[in-house]
Amino acid sequence: MGYEYETIKIQQEDDGVTWLILNRPDKRNAMSPQLHADCNDALYNLATDAKCRVLIVTGAGEAFCAGQDLRLFFRATDNAPRERFEAAENSHHWRWMRLSKFPKPTIAMVNGFCFGGAFTQLIACDLAVAADDAVFGLSEVNWGIIPGGIVSWNVVNAMNSRDAMFYAITGDPFDGKKAAQMGLVNYSVPKNELTEETLKLARKLAAKNPATVRYTKEGVRAVRGMSEAQAADYLAAKSDALRFRDSEKGREEAMKQFLDEKKFRPGLGNYVRDDAK
Ligand code: COA
Repeated sequence: MGYEYETIKIQQEDDGVTWLILNRPDKRNAMSPQLHADCNDALYNLATDAKCRVLIVTGAGEAFCAGQDLRLFFRATDNAPRERFEAAENSHHWRWMRLSKFPKPTIAMVNGFCFGGAFTQLIACDLAVAADDAVFGLSEVNWGIIPGGIVSWNVVNAMNSRDAMFYAITGDPFDGKKAAQMGLVNYSVPKNELTEETLKLARKLAAKNPATVRYTKEGVRAVRGMSEAQAADYLAAKSDALRFRDSEKGREEAMKQFLDEKKFRPGLGNYVRDDAK
């Protein structure tokens, strides 16, 4: 199935990898109200599209995303409360409500400029890979605004608090290598290897038991805000739920292959999945 949008491109590979590409390269993929509406719709489609097993979010051209579109998101809606409200709702919805809770693994591939509001989708993704020379910046302080939406909340959760404060109040840019060193992205690679390295990671995830990956990522996210007792109870319930959810019965199958058939050891490779189940 093909998806057509005005401001984003959806590309689907045969191996379960789907690309969501912000596609306003002449505006460095700054996020307009239309882009927010397009992304929102696309994520509803892809969440329920069996062809999408892993989602990579990136940008066309030189930028990952230059943040909110200062002309179309901010200035054009200053005196249009309904349009501003809708744009802000869509903006929050796709980047946080949809993306951070997406039922399949998500990877942000930071190919270039990543500024301001773009940190929300960066951090919403489960994993992130950057080009060594990608340029990140919490530039809001230069615009007389704060890292709003939920950018401040996100950066202080994803970064060491000293780093988050330093980059928020100075607005200093930093590169992909520095982002990796601070743990804001998983790793950085030379620009000419970025697509291949990101695809390698995506394919690794696409090859895993989807229900188990989903419940694992939901569990890891959810327990952060819980006490130890709540986490133990939640994870026990989540484990039980997975037994029902996992149509390929990965637990039983992996044990059979390890204990009885002796054909799988986790340190030496995945258990042999039967995709047809
Ligand atoms: N909102 C609106 N338009 C933007 C934009 C944004 N956030 N970021 C870039 N653009 C537009 C520019 O206005 C320019 O439009 P024009 O061709 O109509 O003049 C076009 O994108 C290209 O930008 P330009 O600055 O010429 O490209 P560059 O490659 O030299 O620099 C950036 C790229 C990202 C470093 C620079 O555009 C920039 O600093 N943008 C602002 C980023 C930011 O602070 N975002 C957070 C907003 S809260």
